[in-house]
Amino acid sequence: MKAMVVTDEAAGTAGMKLMDRPEPAAAINDVVVQVRASGFVPTELEWPSTWTDRLGRDRTPSIPGHELAGVVAALGYGTTGVSVGQRVFGLADWHRDGTLAEHVAIEARNLAPLPGDVDFTVGASLPISGLTAWQGLFDHGRLRAGQSVLAHGAAGAVGSMVTQLAREAGAYVIGTGRAADRHRALDFGAHEFLDLDADGLEGVGGVDLVFDVIGGAVQKRSAGLIRAGGTLVSVVGPPEARPADGLAVDFVVECDRGQLTEIVQRVRDGRLRTNVGTVATLDDAVAALTPTERTTGKTIIQVP
Ligand SMILES: NC(=O)c1ccc[n+]([C@@H]2O[C@H](COP(=O)([O-])OP(=O)(O)OC[C@H]3O[C@@H](n4cnc5c(N)ncnc54)[C@H](OP(=O)(O)O)[C@@H]3O)[C@@H](O)[C@H]2O)c1
Repeated sequence: MKAMVVTDEAAGTAGMKLMDRPEPAAAINDVVVQVRASGFVPTELEWPSTWTDRLGRDRTPSIPGHELAGVVAALGYGTTGVSVGQRVFGLADWHRDGTLAEHVAIEARNLAPLPGDVDFTVGASLPISGLTAWQGLFDHGRLRAGQSVLAHGAAGAVGSMVTQLAREAGAYVIGTGRAADRHRALDFGAHEFLDLDADGLEGVGGVDLVFDVIGGAVQKRSAGLIRAGGTLVSVVGPPEARPADGLAVDFVVECDRGQLTEIVQRVRDGRLRTNVGTVATLDDAVAALTPTERTTGKTIIQVP
């Protein structure tokens, strides 16, 4: 099968190569999915799991990409809940070959049904950004209606989902980003927008939840804004700062079939808009994933 392969950690996305790789076999509880669209997170090639297995052994050449939408092609022994020919979307294991390929082997529990009226490109844009936002706001951040959320990177892949889901849940949302992001962040539902390069974070006053996708100095300054009992939720590693009287949580997104179903239902009924930027094919993936100018939204690779 055709697949995008990485072997050289130092080369970044420019070192990706389209190669012929063996078809994946379905292990126990696995599903082989014919990939129709694949999502990619720009930081993936910095993750140790792209390069080693769980025991730290080199697993190159590896296939990146962890989000997918496609059609079930084969089932391994003992697999329940999905059937051959079914449309699915989901989140592939960090330590296994991923979704920038014609086929991927993935555990059934990491997939959810993709309704027929949601196209594959949209389906592939949802798993990481949608689940990260959902889990950060509701599982880890325990957001309640009436609370306020500082949503960093509000025009980005995760931040745009955070902004929309928090607003729908009845929160007051202050989105942040670069000056060029103002319109998009407000359009995704932020009540206010803060240009991190120009506006002082301190002017925000107190918030109940900070959703951090940036880290560093932005995170440190944000922690000081959190009201008593509030939470700093970080998806960029262990928090470097803690609220004086609140919690600091970091987490790595996990697949959850029920949450994926909630997310895609919101896309169908118009409560949630996807944030798809560049769309390219597997043949053009290296150029699309190695942009020379600033891009916004998720890059989705379609697999014909
Ligand atoms: N732990 C987890 O489970 C998990 C899950 C998903 C994502 N993540 C991580 O979360 C981060 C964001 O992912 P994403 O897919 O949402 O990326 P993204 O689409 O690039 O969104 C990030 C947004 O934040 C903006 N931003 C970053 N630094 C900024 C700064 N100093 N000032 C103003 N704006 C800034 C970016 O603008 P620019 O493009 O101009 O920098 C972009 O608009 C990545 O580090 C990713 O690895 C973690």
